[in-house]
Amino acid sequence: MMRELADNIMDIAQNSISAGASLTEVHVTVSHEEDRITFVFRDNGCGMSEEMVRSVMEPFTTSRKTRKVGLGLPLLRQTAEMTGGSISVESTVGVGTVVTAAFGLTHIDRPPMGDVAGAFFSLVMMNPDTDFLFTFDYDGKDFTFDTRIIRETVAPLPLNQMEIASWIKDCLSTEINELHGGNFS
Ligand SMILES: Nc1ncnc2c1ncn2[C@@H]1O[C@H](COP(=O)(O)OP(=O)(O)OP(=O)(O)O)[C@@H](O)[C@H]1O
Ligand SMILES: [Mg+2]
Repeated sequence: MMRELADNIMDIAQNSISAGASLTEVHVTVSHEEDRITFVFRDNGCGMSEEMVRSVMEPFTTSRKTRKVGLGLPLLRQTAEMTGGSISVESTVGVGTVVTAAFGLTHIDRPPMGDVAGAFFSLVMMNPDTDFLFTFDYDGKDFTFDTRIIRETVAPLPLNQMEIASWIKDCLSTEINELHGGNFS
């Protein structure tokens, strides 16, 4: 199966959840002017030591118990680098982590963007008790989605309650589609 960029959103944001983050931010920027797609992931999870950050890009570092190979960050790095981009990881123990990845927008090897709205939606549905801040900037037009605001509005109902879930799904796909007129891949 072809990996799309949105698959990385799921993987890397899920690392933040595993790190105990109460707030996970995912910022997507598409710039034709800079010929770049940029993903920024920021969390307030447990963070990593300097040594861990150094080794985390090698595909044999993981805190998983079930298998010895962590692939999320190495795959993101590989995808970024093969499109003329790069990845950086900044982290502080007890404070959190920022992962930034840049891809060449028109690079011949860039995978399709895939379903970003679907990735955002799945993250919220799989982790309804933690908060997310999503932004999508398309050539300067932008969209922000903040579960803290929605949570406050619908409380005491959970974000994965059926009607709320379907509203969230619609909102994400409509707003993101509107930014690029539905013809961006
Ligand atoms: N946001 C983060 N906060 C704290 N630690 C992190 C974060 N992201 C990654 N790590 C650490 O880096 C390790 C490697 O991450 P990576 O995503 O590459 O592999 P994995 O999550 O262990 O396995 P996989 O993603 O393949 O299921 C993780 O096991 C975790 O210990
Ligand atoms: Mg991972």
